Amino acid sequence: MKPSVLVTRAIYADVVDRLSQYFDVDSNQEDLVLDAAALKARLAGKAGVLANAADKIDGAVVAALPQLRAVCNMAVGYNNLDVPALTAAGVVATNTPDVLTETTADFGWALLMATARRVTESEHYLRAGKWKRWSYDMLVGMDVYGSTLGILGMGRIGQALARRAAGFGMNVLYHNRSQLPAETERALNARYVSKAELLAQTDHLLLVLPYSPESHHAIGAAELAAMKPTATLINLARGGIVDDAALAAALRNGQIFAAGLDVFEGEPSVHPDLLTVPNVVLTPHIASASEKTRRAMANLAADNLIAALDAGPKAGHPPSVINPEVMARRR
Ligand code: GLV
Repeated sequence: MKPSVLVTRAIYADVVDRLSQYFDVDSNQEDLVLDAAALKARLAGKAGVLANAADKIDGAVVAALPQLRAVCNMAVGYNNLDVPALTAAGVVATNTPDVLTETTADFGWALLMATARRVTESEHYLRAGKWKRWSYDMLVGMDVYGSTLGILGMGRIGQALARRAAGFGMNVLYHNRSQLPAETERALNARYVSKAELLAQTDHLLLVLPYSPESHHAIGAAELAAMKPTATLINLARGGIVDDAALAAALRNGQIFAAGLDVFEGEPSVHPDLLTVPNVVLTPHIASASEKTRRAMANLAADNLIAALDAGPKAGHPPSVINPEVMARRR
């Protein structure tokens, strides 16, 4: 008998077909959002799950599902997973790094440009019929070329953003849990600084650090107050890294110039104050959403699930494991 797996949300039909070669697949192709109780109920008896970043798989879920052996996220971030609980229970956890790095960095650049140069605000202005004549100060923004880029979190995506900055003649500063090797810093033309210096010096601050209890509200009222009034803030990482209420207040009070947000605390809900300030560009968590990349993510998540459940050409060797000690213990 084939092992049973759950695909928690609609994905590409050919990826579901591929999983069906190895598994009895319960696929939520009708794309209902499964709440915690529905997710737990549908996971009963399943050996594995292809999940997305909104599916919370915590210690209580893991404890209720003794047959579960693999949780494979279709996302690079995995703050939806209680990795220590999964590891203790012998459940392999995987994510989808690398395949989305450049697409996500492209989108970071799109948000940065739109925010600094007031692209969405300008479009709203035009569509509302407010454009009657040229004015020297109509919708003036902040320069990107030649400015100082700040990157908080210098992993794969942060480095891809830094590489793009070279074409814009930018001075690149970064802060990270650990400093990069000198040769990587040289290649990226990026300088490691303290978080305080990053906040004080940066013209455009990009957040690309993982969410964890330590990074909760890494940007709150105090950090916003430490930024330049001409600065922009871009959050590409996870909701909860920014205190959205404090950000809305800072935008309203002119404490910073503008913000671009792809992620939100409690998404898909958006803090109501953010919806009423004009100087923020808002997008619905789409940084990795190119056709090619979303396909690559779905296929990598499927490869992980197949291999983690000891099937397919990479049996026992899922390509991107978060807790390799579980696979090692099984061998
Ligand atoms: C998206 O947010 C991801 O983590 O891949």
